[in-house]
Amino acid sequence: MLFSQIVLTAASLAASVIAAPNEFRIKTVSSSASKNGLYVESYHTGAGLADPVLTTSTANAGKFYLNNTYLQQDIGQEFSYGFELGGATNYAGWEFVEVNAGQGVPGFVVQNGNIVWNSTESTGWLACDWWHGAPQLFWSVAYENFTRPISCSTVSLTQEFISS
Ligand SMILES: *[C@@H]1O[C@H](CO)[C@@H](O)[C@H](O)[C@H]1NC(C)=O
Ligand SMILES: *[C@@H]1O[C@H](CO)[C@@H](O)[C@H](O)[C@H]1NC(C)=O
Ligand SMILES: *[C@@H]1O[C@H](CO)[C@@H](O)[C@H](O)[C@H]1NC(C)=O
Repeated sequence: MLFSQIVLTAASLAASVIAAPNEFRIKTVSSSASKNGLYVESYHTGAGLADPVLTTSTANAGKFYLNNTYLQQDIGQEFSYGFELGGATNYAGWEFVEVNAGQGVPGFVVQNGNIVWNSTESTGWLACDWWHGAPQLFWSVAYENFTRPISCSTVSLTQEFISS
């Protein structure tokens, strides 16, 4: 189920919704036309669990903010979701990104206008056509250098600030 549908249901029940300051949509920049100019949307995969997929729709785009170096999503509740990264523990060339209930993992910073995970383990973000029927965000592991599926493209993640 698209996460935005659940959020809408939950948000309509909430008495008041307090927006965090400096919220932004996360928008891709890529040399691949099919992966360029897309927004990160959380695709619900289980209780408190979501995968970041990419959409052309600003209405479905998540609202994100940086809390120190945690990259969090405002879901219109008193708790937030946070970016988590699958560990580089299995000699894979790229790994999962998830947006799950909680703060997520630290280490996200803005460098030259792009949101990066500031770690020597990572060489950046990938977008690949995947199993939710939409491009999905992954992170590229620095230690491995494999040929990627043809649908995968490197993407930069930029902030599109939401005026309130
Ligand atoms: C920011 O992080 C602090 C602790 O790391 C947490 O207590 C606080 O709730 C977070 N704020 C938001 C708006 O998520
Ligand atoms: C990125 O990480 C390095 C090493 O920990 C640190 O020196 C640097 O200040 C960090 N960059 C940013 C923009 O936080
Ligand atoms: C990755 O592999 C390709 C093909 O074998 C090679 O051309 C390229 O130099 C490698 N890159 C790195 C960073 O090792």
